Amino acid sequence: MKERKQLIAEAHAPGKVILMGEHAVVYAQPALAIPVFSVWAQVRAWALDRPGEGIWLEAPQIGLATTFWEHLAPQNPLRVAVQLVLEHYGSPKHNLLLEITSTIPVAAGLGSSAAVTVAVLRALSRALGGSPTLEILNAWAYEVEKLHHGTPSGVDNTTVTYARPVYFRRGHPPQPLQVGGTLHLLIANTGIPASTREMVARVRAGWEQYRDRFEGWFQEIGQLVEAAREALAHGDARTLGAAMNRNHELLRAMGVSHPRLEDLVRTARDAGAWGAKLSGGGGGGNMIALVPPEALATVQEQLRRAGARQLWVTRLAASGEERR
Ligand code: PMV
Repeated sequence: MKERKQLIAEAHAPGKVILMGEHAVVYAQPALAIPVFSVWAQVRAWALDRPGEGIWLEAPQIGLATTFWEHLAPQNPLRVAVQLVLEHYGSPKHNLLLEITSTIPVAAGLGSSAAVTVAVLRALSRALGGSPTLEILNAWAYEVEKLHHGTPSGVDNTTVTYARPVYFRRGHPPQPLQVGGTLHLLIANTGIPASTREMVARVRAGWEQYRDRFEGWFQEIGQLVEAAREALAHGDARTLGAAMNRNHELLRAMGVSHPRLEDLVRTARDAGAWGAKLSGGGGGGNMIALVPPEALATVQEQLRRAGARQLWVTRLAASGEERR
């Protein structure tokens, strides 16, 4: 489409990573998650120089050529996101194009779908002169996340919307996570795409068959999350690392690890990490390691040698994750 006229709004949303508590969070246990500002989704809203009053979408990275929003399938997450905003703020006075780009790898547990959704909701709201509260934005993003994941806990959209470290419990308002001291986290991508929906279904099948065993694991994860929250508040990296390690063992017992994740977790620990675990749905995707600053270079190098496809370093500081 060549007749781009004027940029009227722009919005960004960061990626996210789950520090502790994935899967158990679906069963009402708490989880800790942090935004990752080194990757982001961006949406630009352009007023178009053509007669009409509709919304067009363009997302070259996911193969979406310029498309009128109502030509998307009824359950398409982008279409539903647009619809939620239009219901609230009414139709535009002119044609609008939403240009969507993202640096967040998809199907890697970094919250790519939630970030794209939040950036679309924000940019379109702004283009229509609205400014939804974080609470409303988060509720809309949750509606859209359901289309991606079936039964999401809401931790992804919450972390991405609020863009700060959160203590999250399904059905409760998110609480800011206190961080005492500076902690360095390394995120490593196995490069193996994994479906969160399938992993959540796998855990559900396990829970249905071995209910007592799984509930015991969920509860233990909940206790580890509480211990980790406490440790984080005091900047106690060793205790946090130990909690992460135990959390990983429980996730593996639930059947959501992968041989490549096991390799990377072991490599990070052997190279000096205080703790390492898979992050997100599992079955591939990412692992996260808590690393002493002096071991960062070594752990990165060893992870690269062990086959990590992408690596990100994130700093958790008293003021939240450092914006990079
Ligand atoms: O794979 P991710 O990072 O989108 O994380 C999913 C987290 C789960 O706990 C497995 C599912 C959920 O909805 O919370």
